[in-house]
Amino acid sequence: MRIPPTVSLCYNGEKFHQEPLKERNPMAIKPKTTPIYQTSVFTFEDLNELEAYFEQPSTAYMYTRFANPNSDELAAAVKALEQGAGAVVTSSGMSAILTAVLTYCESGDHLLCAEEIYGGSSVLLSRELRRLGIGVTYVPLEDMDDVSPYVTEKTKMLLTETMTNPFLNVQDIQQLASQCRRLGLKLVVDNTFATPVLTRPLTLGADMVIHSVTKYLSGHSDVTAGVVVAQTEPDGSRAQEIVVHYGLNLSPFESWLAARGLKTLHLRVKQHSANALAIARYLERHPRVKKVYYPGLPSHPQHQLAKRQGNGLFGGMLSFVIDDDPDTVNRFMRALTLIPFAPSLAGVQSSLSHPLKTSHRALTPEKRKKLGITMGLIRLSVGIEETEELIADLEQALDSIAD
Ligand SMILES: Cc1ncc(COP(=O)(O)O)c(C=O)c1O
Repeated sequence: MRIPPTVSLCYNGEKFHQEPLKERNPMAIKPKTTPIYQTSVFTFEDLNELEAYFEQPSTAYMYTRFANPNSDELAAAVKALEQGAGAVVTSSGMSAILTAVLTYCESGDHLLCAEEIYGGSSVLLSRELRRLGIGVTYVPLEDMDDVSPYVTEKTKMLLTETMTNPFLNVQDIQQLASQCRRLGLKLVVDNTFATPVLTRPLTLGADMVIHSVTKYLSGHSDVTAGVVVAQTEPDGSRAQEIVVHYGLNLSPFESWLAARGLKTLHLRVKQHSANALAIARYLERHPRVKKVYYPGLPSHPQHQLAKRQGNGLFGGMLSFVIDDDPDTVNRFMRALTLIPFAPSLAGVQSSLSHPLKTSHRALTPEKRKKLGITMGLIRLSVGIEETEELIADLEQALDSIAD
């Protein structure tokens, strides 16, 4: 389409004159926000420019699977937040976990994993990575203060979450890091639930942090993404290579959306945490609620640790137990008007999930029983709405399940 030399536009009822577009230099534009580099490949002037790229690939872009400005922007922002030396973004939280494991383990190796972990992570380790010759042993929560009996000469790393799903058990990252150093293991921490606003595992001695960026880091339930942040540059570079070779990279648009969400992370996490604390206190007093799991409550087994390690905040996730009966659970879900049943978490809008039927569905009945994943267990992802409105919604839904 030919661009007319001058364009008269109507804006707010006023006509104004626009300069000829052909006289502008798009490369001289200085936008306040980063544009979306929605391109799979970048161009080169000639062979000399290509050679210069190969001599110093970090100074230019060639192919989006290798690197893209939007992915780099997101990785740099999370790297700064987590205070790491290297970072790479990935297509999902699962591919971030895969990248972390492949950074430290190869066929024949073995790793330890906290028993209470996101269901998808344990499926990846138990079904897929075992098939590729990487063994896994799950360490029960009560044994995490001394993992040495589980270590073999093949053990390379320990994977844990800062705060576990769905019971919000808090791991002592500093203590785990010193154990891992002594035992010659790498410590990989899934910091999805805590976020760097609460806890920065790399500053406590962890070797690698991963996130499901899908959750708090992007924060608006419209992105699927992951990130790996390493304590050292060689580990960060190795993680980057794995992402490139396995094709685990994140698209420019998803990177852009996540980077946009990240700008409000601190504000959001403060509001998520304030709302969750108020709701946890409310639920703990409610006669239809049998138990509440929230690290901000003095009744939580790691309340003191959470206080010390959480920067004065306890996060936006909590779980609670109502009657162990599917009909009651369904009535409760249907009665809520502000809080949809959505099997994910960490969006600005509150949502609830049902671990037994969603995240922990793939676990064996024995393992679910051992962990305490029951029909009446509800996991609440508390959003940033007005606190009183959320409590009023929960109140009327709990009233509706009264006998
Ligand atoms: C703690 C945790 N880690 C990792 C994942 C996987 O992330 P994704 O769904 O982005 O692949 C999830 C997903 O819910 C999660 O809750």
